[in-house]
Amino acid sequence: MSRHAYRAALLHMLDDPSRVPAAEAHAYHPDGLLLVEDGHVAAFGAWDALGPTLPEGTPVEHLPGRLIAPGFVDAHVHYPQVDVIAAWGAQLLDWLNTHTFPAEMAFADRAHADAVAEIFLDQLLANGTTSALAFCTVHKGSAEALFEAALARDMRLVAGKVLMDREAPAGLTDTVDSGRADTEALIRAYGGKGRLGYAVTPRFAVTSSDAQLAMAGELLAAHPDVLLHTHMSENRAEIARVGGLFPWAGDYLDVYERFGLLGPRSVFAHCIHCDEGVMGRMAKAGATAAFCPSSNLLLGSGLFSLKRACACGMSVALGTDVGGGGSFSQLHMMAEAYKIGQLQGDSLDPLHAFYLGTLAGARALHIDRRVGNLLPGKEADFVVLDLAATPLVARRTGRARTLAETLFVLAVLADDRLVERTYLAGRLAHARGGA
Ligand code: GUN
Ligand code: ZN
Repeated sequence: MSRHAYRAALLHMLDDPSRVPAAEAHAYHPDGLLLVEDGHVAAFGAWDALGPTLPEGTPVEHLPGRLIAPGFVDAHVHYPQVDVIAAWGAQLLDWLNTHTFPAEMAFADRAHADAVAEIFLDQLLANGTTSALAFCTVHKGSAEALFEAALARDMRLVAGKVLMDREAPAGLTDTVDSGRADTEALIRAYGGKGRLGYAVTPRFAVTSSDAQLAMAGELLAAHPDVLLHTHMSENRAEIARVGGLFPWAGDYLDVYERFGLLGPRSVFAHCIHCDEGVMGRMAKAGATAAFCPSSNLLLGSGLFSLKRACACGMSVALGTDVGGGGSFSQLHMMAEAYKIGQLQGDSLDPLHAFYLGTLAGARALHIDRRVGNLLPGKEADFVVLDLAATPLVARRTGRARTLAETLFVLAVLADDRLVERTYLAGRLAHARGGA
C-alpha cells in the first residue's frame, strides 16, 4: 500500500454556504493533516488530533505557508478554443464565425487534436483544475484525442463531441445520423472508462435542427449515466435567433425541455438572461447553470445574477468557458464572479465562490461521490496553493485576518503561480516550474 501524509493548512467544502450555515458548509484546519492511501483520502483533519494516530513510518511532508484544497472543477470549458483566448472586439455570434469556427475546423486533423488536448490538460493542471466538463468539436476524433489524453493522466474528465447540423460552415457540421452514430460509439468506448464520463453536447439551439435535438434527447434516455452539456441564454442576438428558429417555444429553455434535454444531469452554460420562471424550472429539474464570468465580460454578454439564481434555488457552478473566457484559473473566475456581483450590488462571499469552483462543479458533473472535497474515501485530487507565491501575495496573505480574507486575496491576485502542485488520485500531476 502507498501512504503519504501532508501537513499544511487544509480547506474543503461540505455543502453550499448559500443554503446552509457557513460553519456546516466547510471544514478548515490552519494546521492540518491530509493522509492519502492508494490514491484515496484516508484522513483529513487537525494535525494535533491526527498526527499521533499516523501509522508508524508514514512519510510526512510539512508544507508551512501552503493551503491544501480539493482540485478545482471547471463546469464549462472548450478544449479546442485554447487558440482563440483573447480574441478582440467581437460578441458571441460574430466571435463564433470570425474566430471560433475557423479554429475548430483544424480539429479534423487528429494530430492537431492530440497536440491541443495535451496543452489543454497541462493548462488545467497548472491552474489546479483536476476535473472539467469539456466541449470538443464536431469531429469524433477531437473527442477521442481528449479522452485518450485524460485517460493517460488518470484524470476525472467529462466531455463530448459537439452535435451541430446547421448554421455552421461546411466542414464543421454533422447530421442527425452521423451525430448519433459517433456519439453512441464514443459513449461505448469512453463512458465510464477509467475516470472518464460522457456528455451529449449539442452546441446550442441555434446550430441543431429539431431532429438533432430530438436525437440528443433519445441518446440521454438510452444512456442514463451521461450528462447533457450545452449553452443557453448567453447573448441577446443569440436569444433572438433561437426565437426565430423555434417560433413555437415559449422561451429558450422550452426548446431544450420539449426535446427531453432538461434534467438533473443537464448543465447549461451562461443562463444570463433568464427570468425567475426559467430559473425556477431549472431548479425544479435539478439542472445546473455554469456561470462563466470571464467569458461573460470579455464577450460583453451580460451580468449573471447569482443572487437571483440562489433565490430561485437553481444550482450554479463556475466555468472558465475558455476560449470565450480569458483564463484557466478557477481562482480568477471567483474574482470575476465577485466583480459581476459588485456591478449588481451583491458582494459574493469568498467561501461561496470557493464552493462554486469545487464541490458545486463536482455536483453538477455528478462526480461528487468521488471528488469535490477531501472527505475520507474520496479520490485524492488536490492542490497545494502557495500563500507566498509572489512577494505581493505573501505580503497580502500575511495581513489577512480571516479565512475569507485569505481566499479573497488568492482569488483577486490569482494566476498559475499560486498553484505549487496538483495531484490526481494521489499522484503528482503538476509541479510549478517543473520542480
Ligand atoms: N454558444 C455556442 N457556442 C459557443 C461557444 O463556443 N462559446 C460560447 N461562449 N458560447 C457559445
Ligand atoms: Zn461555452
